[in-house]
Amino acid sequence: MVDVSVFIDEAIAEIDAAIGEDNAVIALSGGVDSSVSAALAYKAIGDQLTPVYVDTGLMRKGETKQVKDTFAYMDSLRVVDAQDRFFESLAGVTDPEEKRHVIGEQFIREFEEEAHAANADYLVQGTIYPDRIESEGNIKSHHNVGGLPDVVDFEGIVEPVRELYKDEVREVARELDLDELVSERMPFPGPGLAIRVIDEVTREKVAVAREACHIVESETAEFDPWQAFAAVVGKATGVKGDNRVHGWIVSVRAVESRDGMTARAQELPWEALQRIQSRITGENDDVARVLYDITHKPPATIEYE
Ligand code: XMP
Repeated sequence: MVDVSVFIDEAIAEIDAAIGEDNAVIALSGGVDSSVSAALAYKAIGDQLTPVYVDTGLMRKGETKQVKDTFAYMDSLRVVDAQDRFFESLAGVTDPEEKRHVIGEQFIREFEEEAHAANADYLVQGTIYPDRIESEGNIKSHHNVGGLPDVVDFEGIVEPVRELYKDEVREVARELDLDELVSERMPFPGPGLAIRVIDEVTREKVAVAREACHIVESETAEFDPWQAFAAVVGKATGVKGDNRVHGWIVSVRAVESRDGMTARAQELPWEALQRIQSRITGENDDVARVLYDITHKPPATIEYE
Protein backbone atom coordinates (compact mmCIF):
# COMPACT_ATOMS: atom_id res chain seq x y z
CA MET A 1 0.00 0.00 0.00
CA VAL A 2 1.56 3.25 -1.11
CA ASP A 3 -0.36 5.91 0.79
CA VAL A 4 -3.11 5.31 3.35
CA SER A 5 -5.24 8.34 2.51
CA VAL A 6 -5.04 7.58 -1.21
CA PHE A 7 -6.07 4.00 -0.46
CA ILE A 8 -9.06 5.22 1.56
CA ASP A 9 -10.28 7.61 -1.15
CA GLU A 10 -9.93 4.92 -3.79
CA ALA A 11 -11.64 2.29 -1.67
CA ILE A 12 -14.62 4.57 -0.98
CA ALA A 13 -14.91 5.44 -4.67
CA GLU A 14 -14.72 1.76 -5.62
CA ILE A 15 -17.45 0.77 -3.13
CA ASP A 16 -19.64 3.63 -4.28
CA ALA A 17 -19.19 2.67 -7.94
CA ALA A 18 -19.90 -1.01 -7.26
CA ILE A 19 -23.01 -0.56 -5.10
CA GLY A 20 -24.44 2.75 -6.28
CA GLU A 21 -28.04 3.17 -5.12
CA ASP A 22 -28.42 -0.45 -4.01
CA ASN A 23 -28.32 -1.94 -0.50
CA ALA A 24 -25.51 -3.91 1.09
CA VAL A 25 -24.81 -5.92 4.23
CA ILE A 26 -21.61 -6.67 6.07
CA ALA A 27 -20.99 -9.15 8.85
CA LEU A 28 -19.22 -7.23 11.61
CA SER A 29 -17.11 -9.37 13.91
CA GLY A 30 -15.57 -6.73 16.14
CA GLY A 31 -12.17 -7.35 14.55
CA VAL A 32 -10.17 -4.80 12.64
CA ASP A 33 -10.76 -6.23 9.12
CA SER A 34 -14.54 -6.14 9.15
CA SER A 35 -14.57 -2.90 11.16
CA VAL A 36 -12.42 -1.11 8.59
CA SER A 37 -14.46 -2.55 5.73
CA ALA A 38 -17.70 -1.42 7.39
CA ALA A 39 -16.35 2.05 8.11
CA LEU A 40 -15.21 2.46 4.49
CA ALA A 41 -18.50 1.15 3.11
CA TYR A 42 -20.51 3.36 5.44
CA LYS A 43 -18.58 6.38 4.24
CA ALA A 44 -19.38 5.35 0.68
CA ILE A 45 -23.08 4.46 0.94
CA GLY A 46 -24.28 5.46 4.45
CA ASP A 47 -27.40 3.69 5.71
CA GLN A 48 -27.75 1.72 2.48
CA LEU A 49 -25.26 -0.47 4.37
CA THR A 50 -26.63 -2.72 7.12
CA PRO A 51 -23.80 -3.88 9.38
CA VAL A 52 -24.82 -7.11 11.11
CA TYR A 53 -23.13 -8.26 14.30
CA VAL A 54 -24.08 -11.78 15.35
CA ASP A 55 -23.38 -12.55 19.00
CA THR A 56 -22.53 -16.22 18.71
CA GLY A 57 -21.72 -16.64 22.39
CA LEU A 58 -18.17 -17.41 21.23
CA MET A 59 -16.91 -13.83 21.24
CA ARG A 60 -14.25 -12.16 23.35
CA LYS A 61 -15.03 -10.57 26.67
CA GLY A 62 -16.79 -7.24 26.17
CA GLU A 63 -16.86 -7.60 22.39
CA THR A 64 -20.60 -7.09 21.93
CA LYS A 65 -20.62 -3.90 23.96
CA GLN A 66 -17.56 -2.64 22.15
CA VAL A 67 -19.12 -3.21 18.75
CA LYS A 68 -22.31 -1.44 19.83
CA ASP A 69 -20.29 1.52 21.15
CA THR A 70 -17.93 1.79 18.19
CA PHE A 71 -20.66 1.66 15.57
CA ALA A 72 -23.37 3.49 17.48
CA TYR A 73 -23.17 6.20 14.81
CA MET A 74 -24.51 3.78 12.19
CA ASP A 75 -28.30 3.88 12.49
CA SER A 76 -28.58 0.72 10.43
CA LEU A 77 -26.48 -1.46 12.83
CA ARG A 78 -28.15 -4.79 13.70
CA VAL A 79 -27.07 -6.81 16.74
CA VAL A 80 -28.40 -10.37 16.80
CA ASP A 81 -28.32 -12.43 20.00
CA ALA A 82 -27.85 -15.96 18.65
CA GLN A 83 -25.98 -17.49 21.59
CA ASP A 84 -28.53 -20.19 22.40
CA ARG A 85 -28.81 -21.29 18.79
CA PHE A 86 -25.03 -21.60 18.39
CA PHE A 87 -24.56 -23.66 21.55
CA GLU A 88 -27.44 -25.91 20.57
CA SER A 89 -26.05 -26.57 17.13
CA LEU A 90 -22.58 -27.28 18.57
CA ALA A 91 -23.79 -29.83 21.13
CA GLY A 92 -21.92 -33.11 20.69
CA VAL A 93 -19.59 -31.77 17.96
CA THR A 94 -15.92 -32.55 18.67
CA ASP A 95 -14.10 -32.56 15.33
CA PRO A 96 -12.36 -29.21 14.62
CA GLU A 97 -13.39 -28.93 10.99
CA GLU A 98 -16.92 -30.05 11.84
CA LYS A 99 -17.05 -27.27 14.45
CA ARG A 100 -16.07 -24.74 11.81
CA HIS A 101 -18.68 -26.17 9.47
CA VAL A 102 -21.48 -26.05 12.05
CA ILE A 103 -20.57 -22.51 13.07
CA GLY A 104 -20.34 -21.43 9.44
CA GLU A 105 -23.77 -22.92 8.68
CA GLN A 106 -25.43 -21.36 11.71
CA PHE A 107 -23.82 -18.06 10.90
CA ILE A 108 -25.13 -18.19 7.35
CA ARG A 109 -28.64 -18.89 8.63
CA GLU A 110 -28.54 -15.89 10.95
CA PHE A 111 -26.98 -13.67 8.35
CA GLU A 112 -29.30 -14.74 5.57
CA GLU A 113 -32.30 -13.64 7.60
CA GLU A 114 -30.76 -10.23 8.18
CA ALA A 115 -29.69 -9.85 4.56
CA HIS A 116 -33.24 -10.55 3.40
CA ALA A 117 -34.71 -8.16 5.93
CA ALA A 118 -32.29 -5.47 4.73
CA ASN A 119 -33.14 -6.14 1.08
CA ALA A 120 -29.44 -6.42 0.40
CA ASP A 121 -28.12 -6.73 -3.13
CA TYR A 122 -24.45 -6.64 -2.22
CA LEU A 123 -22.22 -8.28 0.33
CA VAL A 124 -19.28 -6.36 1.76
CA GLN A 125 -16.60 -8.60 3.29
CA GLY A 126 -13.48 -7.90 5.34
CA THR A 127 -11.38 -10.56 3.63
CA ILE A 128 -7.68 -9.71 3.72
CA TYR A 129 -4.86 -11.04 1.57
CA PRO A 130 -3.61 -13.86 3.88
CA ASP A 131 -7.20 -15.19 4.31
CA ARG A 132 -7.39 -15.73 0.57
CA ILE A 133 -4.02 -17.39 0.33
CA GLU A 134 -4.73 -19.83 3.17
CA SER A 135 -8.17 -20.67 1.82
CA GLU A 136 -6.90 -21.15 -1.71
CA GLY A 137 -4.21 -23.46 -0.33
CA ASN A 138 -6.96 -25.31 1.57
CA ILE A 139 -4.95 -25.10 4.78
CA LYS A 140 -8.08 -24.42 6.78
CA SER A 141 -11.65 -23.57 5.99
CA HIS A 142 -11.86 -19.93 6.96
CA HIS A 143 -15.52 -19.33 7.44
CA ASN A 144 -15.21 -15.69 6.44
CA VAL A 145 -14.15 -16.68 2.93
CA GLY A 146 -16.73 -18.32 0.72
CA GLY A 147 -19.95 -19.65 2.21
CA LEU A 148 -21.93 -16.46 2.55
CA PRO A 149 -22.01 -15.51 -1.13
CA ASP A 150 -23.27 -18.92 -2.22
CA VAL A 151 -26.29 -18.97 0.03
CA VAL A 152 -27.72 -15.52 -0.31
CA ASP A 153 -28.21 -14.57 -3.89
CA PHE A 154 -26.12 -11.41 -3.95
CA GLU A 155 -25.57 -9.40 -7.08
CA GLY A 156 -21.98 -8.89 -6.11
CA ILE A 157 -19.35 -8.99 -3.40
CA VAL A 158 -17.18 -6.06 -2.43
CA GLU A 159 -13.97 -6.69 -0.51
CA PRO A 160 -12.33 -3.33 0.16
CA VAL A 161 -9.23 -4.65 2.01
CA ARG A 162 -8.66 -7.78 -0.07
CA GLU A 163 -5.13 -6.77 -1.09
CA LEU A 164 -3.95 -5.71 2.36
CA TYR A 165 -1.98 -7.41 5.10
CA LYS A 166 -3.12 -7.06 8.69
CA ASP A 167 -0.60 -4.33 9.55
CA GLU A 168 -1.82 -2.31 6.58
CA VAL A 169 -5.45 -2.72 7.67
CA ARG A 170 -4.42 -1.33 11.06
CA GLU A 171 -2.85 1.70 9.37
CA VAL A 172 -6.13 2.34 7.58
CA ALA A 173 -8.03 1.95 10.87
CA ARG A 174 -5.83 4.58 12.51
CA GLU A 175 -6.27 6.94 9.59
CA LEU A 176 -10.05 6.43 9.82
CA ASP A 177 -9.84 7.31 13.54
CA LEU A 178 -11.40 4.04 14.62
CA ASP A 179 -11.12 3.42 18.35
CA GLU A 180 -7.70 2.12 19.42
CA LEU A 181 -9.41 -0.94 20.85
CA VAL A 182 -10.38 -1.76 17.28
CA SER A 183 -7.33 -0.63 15.32
CA GLU A 184 -4.85 -2.34 17.65
CA ARG A 185 -6.99 -5.37 18.41
CA MET A 186 -5.21 -8.63 17.80
CA PRO A 187 -6.61 -11.11 15.27
CA PHE A 188 -9.45 -13.31 16.45
CA PRO A 189 -10.65 -16.33 14.46
CA GLY A 190 -14.11 -16.34 12.86
CA PRO A 191 -15.23 -19.45 14.81
CA GLY A 192 -14.23 -17.60 17.96
CA LEU A 193 -13.64 -19.33 21.27
CA ALA A 194 -15.00 -22.60 19.84
CA ILE A 195 -11.54 -23.39 18.44
CA ARG A 196 -9.92 -22.44 21.76
CA VAL A 197 -11.60 -25.30 23.59
CA ILE A 198 -10.68 -28.86 22.74
CA ASP A 199 -13.51 -31.33 22.11
CA GLU A 200 -17.11 -30.37 22.67
CA VAL A 201 -17.97 -26.69 22.94
CA THR A 202 -19.81 -26.09 26.20
CA ARG A 203 -20.81 -22.83 27.84
CA GLU A 204 -18.60 -23.68 30.81
CA LYS A 205 -15.44 -24.26 28.76
CA VAL A 206 -16.09 -21.19 26.65
CA ALA A 207 -16.51 -19.07 29.78
CA VAL A 208 -13.18 -20.35 31.15
CA ALA A 209 -11.46 -19.65 27.83
CA ARG A 210 -13.02 -16.17 27.59
CA GLU A 211 -11.81 -15.04 31.01
CA ALA A 212 -8.38 -16.60 30.50
CA CYS A 213 -8.03 -14.96 27.06
CA HIS A 214 -8.88 -11.63 28.63
CA ILE A 215 -6.23 -12.08 31.32
CA VAL A 216 -3.62 -13.13 28.76
CA GLU A 217 -4.44 -10.20 26.48
CA SER A 218 -4.11 -7.67 29.26
CA GLU A 219 -1.03 -9.19 30.92
CA THR A 220 0.90 -9.50 27.65
CA ALA A 221 -0.03 -6.13 26.14
CA GLU A 222 3.29 -4.56 27.20
CA PHE A 223 5.18 -7.20 25.18
CA ASP A 224 3.21 -6.41 22.06
CA PRO A 225 2.56 -9.96 20.82
CA TRP A 226 1.03 -10.40 17.39
CA GLN A 227 -1.55 -12.64 18.99
CA ALA A 228 -1.90 -13.87 22.57
CA PHE A 229 -4.67 -15.97 24.04
CA ALA A 230 -5.54 -19.00 26.13
CA ALA A 231 -7.21 -22.29 25.30
CA VAL A 232 -8.91 -24.94 27.42
CA VAL A 233 -7.13 -28.15 26.52
CA GLY A 234 -8.31 -30.76 29.01
CA LYS A 235 -8.58 -31.62 32.67
CA ALA A 236 -5.99 -32.40 35.33
CA THR A 237 -5.68 -32.77 39.05
CA GLY A 238 -4.82 -29.82 41.24
CA VAL A 239 -5.05 -28.65 44.83
CA LYS A 240 -7.30 -25.77 45.79
CA GLY A 241 -7.28 -24.95 49.49
CA ASP A 242 -7.24 -28.34 51.21
CA ASN A 243 -8.96 -30.16 48.39
CA ARG A 244 -7.78 -32.10 45.41
CA VAL A 245 -9.76 -30.94 42.40
CA HIS A 246 -10.14 -32.19 38.86
CA GLY A 247 -9.94 -28.87 37.07
CA TRP A 248 -9.34 -27.40 33.65
CA ILE A 249 -5.95 -27.21 31.98
CA VAL A 250 -5.47 -23.84 30.31
CA SER A 251 -2.74 -23.40 27.73
CA VAL A 252 -1.39 -19.91 27.17
CA ARG A 253 -0.02 -18.88 23.78
CA ALA A 254 1.72 -15.71 22.64
CA VAL A 255 3.22 -15.47 19.17
CA GLU A 256 5.14 -13.09 16.97
CA SER A 257 4.13 -13.00 13.31
CA ARG A 258 3.49 -10.70 10.39
CA ASP A 259 0.55 -12.37 8.75
CA GLY A 260 -0.23 -15.50 10.75
CA MET A 261 1.09 -17.79 8.04
CA THR A 262 4.16 -18.56 10.12
CA ALA A 263 4.73 -17.59 13.74
CA ARG A 264 7.24 -17.79 16.56
CA ALA A 265 6.33 -18.58 20.13
CA GLN A 266 7.21 -15.47 22.07
CA GLU A 267 9.82 -15.52 24.86
CA LEU A 268 7.87 -13.96 27.69
CA PRO A 269 9.60 -13.19 31.00
CA TRP A 270 9.09 -15.79 33.71
CA GLU A 271 7.54 -13.14 36.00
CA ALA A 272 4.91 -12.31 33.38
CA LEU A 273 4.11 -15.99 32.88
CA GLN A 274 3.77 -16.48 36.62
CA ARG A 275 1.48 -13.46 36.89
CA ILE A 276 -0.72 -14.93 34.17
CA GLN A 277 -0.73 -18.33 35.87
CA SER A 278 -1.61 -16.89 39.23
CA ARG A 279 -4.44 -14.75 37.84
CA ILE A 280 -5.96 -17.55 35.75
CA THR A 281 -5.91 -20.10 38.59
CA GLY A 282 -6.78 -17.47 41.21
CA GLU A 283 -9.74 -15.97 39.39
CA ASN A 284 -11.26 -19.30 38.42
CA ASP A 285 -11.56 -22.08 41.01
CA ASP A 286 -12.11 -24.63 38.29
CA VAL A 287 -8.72 -24.14 36.62
CA ALA A 288 -6.13 -26.54 38.03
CA ARG A 289 -3.17 -25.93 35.76
CA VAL A 290 -1.69 -23.40 33.35
CA LEU A 291 0.77 -24.33 30.56
CA TYR A 292 2.80 -22.11 28.24
CA ASP A 293 2.95 -23.20 24.61
CA ILE A 294 6.49 -22.90 23.20
CA THR A 295 5.73 -24.35 19.75
CA HIS A 296 6.35 -22.28 16.62
CA LYS A 297 4.17 -22.41 13.48
CA PRO A 298 5.10 -24.69 11.81
CA PRO A 299 4.95 -27.34 13.20
CA ALA A 300 1.96 -26.15 15.27
CA THR A 301 -0.77 -23.83 14.08
CA ILE A 302 -1.51 -20.68 16.07
CA GLU A 303 -4.95 -21.78 17.21
CA TYR A 304 -5.60 -25.17 18.82
CA GLU A 305 -8.09 -26.53 16.32
P1 XMP B 1 -3.73 -20.92 12.46
O1 XMP B 1 -4.35 -21.51 13.68
O2 XMP B 1 -4.28 -21.48 11.19
O3 XMP B 1 -4.14 -19.38 12.48
O4 XMP B 1 -2.24 -20.94 12.50
C1 XMP B 1 -3.63 -18.39 11.62
C2 XMP B 1 -4.42 -17.13 11.88
O5 XMP B 1 -5.76 -17.31 11.40
C3 XMP B 1 -6.68 -17.24 12.47
N1 XMP B 1 -7.65 -18.33 12.25
C4 XMP B 1 -8.85 -18.15 11.72
N2 XMP B 1 -9.49 -17.05 11.30
N3 XMP B 1 -11.37 -18.34 10.70
C5 XMP B 1 -10.73 -17.15 10.83
O6 XMP B 1 -11.34 -16.13 10.48
C6 XMP B 1 -10.78 -19.52 11.08
O7 XMP B 1 -11.36 -20.59 10.96
C7 XMP B 1 -9.46 -19.40 11.61
N4 XMP B 1 -8.57 -20.32 12.10
C8 XMP B 1 -7.48 -19.63 12.46
C9 XMP B 1 -5.86 -17.41 13.74
O8 XMP B 1 -6.49 -16.76 14.85
C10 XMP B 1 -4.56 -16.77 13.34
O9 XMP B 1 -4.62 -15.38 13.46
